[in-house]
Amino acid sequence: METRDAFQPRILVIDDEEDFYLLLRRELVFAGYTETAHVADPRQALATFEAYRPDLVAVDLAMSYMDGFEVIRALRDRISRDEFLPILVLTGNGGQHVRTRALECGAMDYVTKSDDFTETLLRVGNLLHTRRLYCENKWQREELERRVLERTQELEDTQREILERLALAAEFRDDDTGEHTRRVGFLSEEIAKAAGLDPVYARHIGMAALLHDLGKIGVPDGILRKPGKLTAYEFENVKAHTWVGSQILGNSRVSLLRLAEEIALTHHERWDGAGYPTGLKGEEIPMSGRIVALADVFDALTHRRPYKHPWPLSRAMLEIQKQSGHQFDPNIVEAFLRLDWSKLELEDERIPEPFGERRAA
Ligand SMILES: [Fe+2]
Repeated sequence: METRDAFQPRILVIDDEEDFYLLLRRELVFAGYTETAHVADPRQALATFEAYRPDLVAVDLAMSYMDGFEVIRALRDRISRDEFLPILVLTGNGGQHVRTRALECGAMDYVTKSDDFTETLLRVGNLLHTRRLYCENKWQREELERRVLERTQELEDTQREILERLALAAEFRDDDTGEHTRRVGFLSEEIAKAAGLDPVYARHIGMAALLHDLGKIGVPDGILRKPGKLTAYEFENVKAHTWVGSQILGNSRVSLLRLAEEIALTHHERWDGAGYPTGLKGEEIPMSGRIVALADVFDALTHRRPYKHPWPLSRAMLEIQKQSGHQFDPNIVEAFLRLDWSKLELEDERIPEPFGERRAA
């Protein structure tokens, strides 16, 4: 198929009569169809067809080695059902049954070979006119799909950046780089994919997870940054970040924000029901909350906090395994353990492996 700039149709002629092809070619060129190719041996027809990618194929029926019907059937097998790529039959004898059989095999039109090419050129013209409309329609659809994809990507990038900046506002007091939220988002998406969730949904979980701690915006500095053990009152205050986050994000018409609300509310629930704020248990906890819960804890374990040193990776992994069926959904733990860190394309700051070791040093 030609590019969209100009439709210069290519015509492939499959005919073992060299002389007839030369005559036909002269007429075609005279009529403006300058792009033609010829196959004299029908056994070479498919290879030339694949290489030349014509817009119309003209096939003789009576040939040595392989008759035209066979060639037409083989070509039809190579042409997608949705594609309009006409095959024109050139018949020496114009018997009705021969023509009918050619049409049944997948030819689109037929013409009797003669020294007068008027009818042949008219039929070629008609078929190529339709081929051109088909190509133009296809190009327009492809262009439209490309633009939709481009806009969707742009929209998603915008959404992600807004979510990241909003998350940064909440995290600024104890993580002015926003790295924790980004890592939790990234890891949540990877776990979701490893757990077999739809890739688009997994990506959305990763984006919505950026806002899991948005409610910390409502926790006083003195409590949030306190290095020592929290009093019961202070801990209640920290627990409230789940409610605050879900309130800020609540009742949105945007599905991504509804997912973020779900995560903000449930990322501290535990599989055994001992979590907060509601004490949901097992599958009562939304899948997104179960995934982010693990990603959040893993990241907290492997990084420095006001109240703890970072743990080495091996110790953190062991702790996650130990909590399978207690704090975490066993299926999510399994998915997490299946992740192959060496195969993930990560930016340096997202690689969990060296964090424990490096920061512990
Ligand atoms: Fe949290």
